[in-house]
Amino acid sequence: MSDAIQADAPHIPVLFDEVLDALAIEAGERHVDATFGAGGYTSGMLARGARVFAFDRDPDAIAAGRALVDSSAGALTLIPATFSALDSELAMRDAMPVQGVTMDIGVSSMQLDQAERGFSFQSDGPLDMRMSQEGMSAADFLNTADEAEIAHVIKEYGEEPRARRVAQAIVYNRPIARTGELARIVRKALGYKPHDKKDPATRTFQAIRIHINRELGELEDGLAAAERALAPGGRLAIVTFHSLEDRMVKRFLRERSGSLPSGSRHLPEVAAKHAPSFEEVGRPVKASEDEIARNPRARSATLRTARRTGAAAWSEGSL
Ligand SMILES: C[S@@+](CC[C@H](N)C(=O)[O-])C[C@H]1O[C@@H](n2cnc3c(N)ncnc32)[C@H](O)[C@@H]1O
Repeated sequence: MSDAIQADAPHIPVLFDEVLDALAIEAGERHVDATFGAGGYTSGMLARGARVFAFDRDPDAIAAGRALVDSSAGALTLIPATFSALDSELAMRDAMPVQGVTMDIGVSSMQLDQAERGFSFQSDGPLDMRMSQEGMSAADFLNTADEAEIAHVIKEYGEEPRARRVAQAIVYNRPIARTGELARIVRKALGYKPHDKKDPATRTFQAIRIHINRELGELEDGLAAAERALAPGGRLAIVTFHSLEDRMVKRFLRERSGSLPSGSRHLPEVAAKHAPSFEEVGRPVKASEDEIARNPRARSATLRTARRTGAAAWSEGSL
């Protein structure tokens, strides 16, 4: 990507060239950036002549994107909504079908860097973590849920082997109002030495964030919505940052392309009824050492790409 975009960007987009190459954009095509963030991918799509519909559930991202809308001469529409609703939002705007859908899953650097959004265990702020800035906050959840539910969330979404111990410490110490307090409670429960490579609070913060924002449910619903929105031949490009998400994308693409192993539990009832709606394109792509040196966040990124076939979508949605 150009140095000018990268130097000024509040969020450095990962696998920028790889994502844009995967989309194979032709001027005038309609494309969806399902996770606008700081608009890195959207800018690249606009530069290639796409008509872009960009979604973000965070009102701050939408507000910051207005300048790009103004300079786009009508080529960019920003939609303040979750990507699970992308097909119905596009239909309302007479923008179906589209030639590409891109998702860059997770939080942006702006969200992480602002202590008052409550995503980071590295700076102290209110225990919030809501991307959309509405609904139940992390503090609401941790201060009211029972210990078993907290342990379940931390185990499932953080893959934390000592989730029960963490949940016990949280319940013992509540009410908890600040990220700094939560980080201290988790570190004490798990035992933390300052030179440890990974902060033990990492998994717990990830788990609570995923739960509060219903991130895995959004991904599952977003993939199905993208399937309904894409035209035959259209491209789906998904960037994930941890194994729970990547496994979900991999499974969706294997299932929809008819390449689940024959012993698979769901194969007889579901796959037998449907023609493949996607073809996987190439192998999963990881960031180069160069990119990782410039942007350490890229280390855990995986890009998967697929092409929509002409077969009907497997799910109907709410249109
Ligand atoms: C990793 S950032 C995207 C960065 C972007 N690709 C760029 O180049 O600047 C993810 C963004 O997606 C948004 N987001 C996450 N889940 C979402 C969802 N289910 N629906 C809509 N937006 C979502 C977040 O609010 C965040 O702004």
